[in-house]
Amino acid sequence: MGSVKFDVSVTKGLLEKTPANILVINLFEGVKIPAGATGAIDIALDGLISKFVIGKEGFSGKFGETYVLPTYGKIAAEKVLIVGLGKNKDFNLNRLREVSEKVIKKCQKLNNVKKIISVLHGAGIGGFDPEQCAKAITEGALIGGYKFDKYKSEKQTSKIEEVVIVDMVEENCKKAKAGIKKGKIVAHAVNCARDLSNEQPSYATPTKLAEIAQKIKDIDVKVYDKEEIEKLGMGAFLAVARGSSQPPKFIHMRYKSPSKTAQRKIAIIGKGICFDSGGLDLKPPSSMLTMKDDMSAAAAVIGIMTVMKELKPNCEVHALIAACENMPGCSAYKPGDILTAKNGKTIEVDNTDAEGRLTLADALCYACDLGVDEVIDLATLTGACVVALGNTVSGIMGNNQSMIDKLIKCGAAGGEKLWQLPLFDDYKESLKSDIADMKNTGSRMGGAQIAGVFLQNFVKKARWAHIDIAGTAYLEKKGATGAGVRTIINYLMS
Ligand code: BES
Ligand code: MN
Ligand code: ZN
Repeated sequence: MGSVKFDVSVTKGLLEKTPANILVINLFEGVKIPAGATGAIDIALDGLISKFVIGKEGFSGKFGETYVLPTYGKIAAEKVLIVGLGKNKDFNLNRLREVSEKVIKKCQKLNNVKKIISVLHGAGIGGFDPEQCAKAITEGALIGGYKFDKYKSEKQTSKIEEVVIVDMVEENCKKAKAGIKKGKIVAHAVNCARDLSNEQPSYATPTKLAEIAQKIKDIDVKVYDKEEIEKLGMGAFLAVARGSSQPPKFIHMRYKSPSKTAQRKIAIIGKGICFDSGGLDLKPPSSMLTMKDDMSAAAAVIGIMTVMKELKPNCEVHALIAACENMPGCSAYKPGDILTAKNGKTIEVDNTDAEGRLTLADALCYACDLGVDEVIDLATLTGACVVALGNTVSGIMGNNQSMIDKLIKCGAAGGEKLWQLPLFDDYKESLKSDIADMKNTGSRMGGAQIAGVFLQNFVKKARWAHIDIAGTAYLEKKGATGAGVRTIINYLMS
């Protein structure tokens, strides 16, 4: 998995007596005389932290601020890293996850760091539940420690081997252990999604995605090939796939909770365009550059399914991916073509670069035919959503307000921001076609919502939410983020 090579664990013990290369402690903003664990270390270091680091150097405990100092044998750890937790009143589990990410990134830059020990940040003066704190620390460390270096002949990864949370209270350790386990599961799903999405497009083809899905343990998987997709009547999806020499695959993964109680049936759909060249309405080079990421939603869905058997949500989950490439080959679909989706509706192709909604249309029909109660689709769908919300906020829209509200909450709890966009009837106007039921694109203005209104044509009775991750799935600096994974895991578990 990517290259997180270290493990996270907890042991009962005294911080001062535990050997390590780095001991991580913390400080809330504005604290002059540290208490708790940091206070104990300050005393063991003869007041070096309060007198020198805070007093002289002016370390103020601002959020994410770090300071590293050697211990010269006064405690068992070689160095201490003090991290700022920010203002006590602003502190929460999301900030803790971010702090943990920053700490790991800082440690990766230091020399000779193999073993890191850490206090259970947040559980002392912060007053948060030890299990939740350990989960946040673990998630942050494993997500922050991830690097995609598969294609580097010289791996630049650091030598970090283990992160150990140390606490002297037995009960805290027990709770931390449970939290670490949960954090590892979430981080695994996130990093699995990032691995797939970071891959080069000529590796992560529709066939490869199908193969990977089929290898997930304890998940039923059915992969439909081109002939079978034809039989299913997915005329919109097939049209997009036509311009590529890579055959399309429709992937259906199913998880069923072992519990005997009535289960809600949920479908999660991930846009799986393994490369989006724009088709005949070819993208300019600068826009095409990152279009290997156009299967990030499919990657997220696969990442989520790899952890279902460990998380065991009490629901039946159908994960669906219409995987293909959008290429301008000589059989490519053309502007002006009229396609018939699985539900019989006809679509005039206005722009072949609006391909994602065509593949999602057929996937939505398939999901509704399964008789699910709820459908969530996740997609790197529109540049308009990026313009509207930027790179840290995903757009959400749908036909059921309480479902949308719940998803926004689940996102917030996992550190993923979602902002609702409206699906007013006004937007339908610009999708009108003279010769078919609709066109696949309309006005550029309000483009994210117009895409949402388009998708709604393919949803029957189910409650439905559409999440546009075009801005959040892939960042220039970080690469793939695994956007959507934490939101949807929290949603399935709620
Ligand atoms: N995959 C793109 C959307 C996208 C843009 C994702 C930027 C990530 C970053 C999608 O298939 C697309 O090309 N959308 C067009 C739609 C337009 C032709 C109506 C767009 O947003 O420009
Ligand atoms: Mn496109
Ligand atoms: Zn696309």
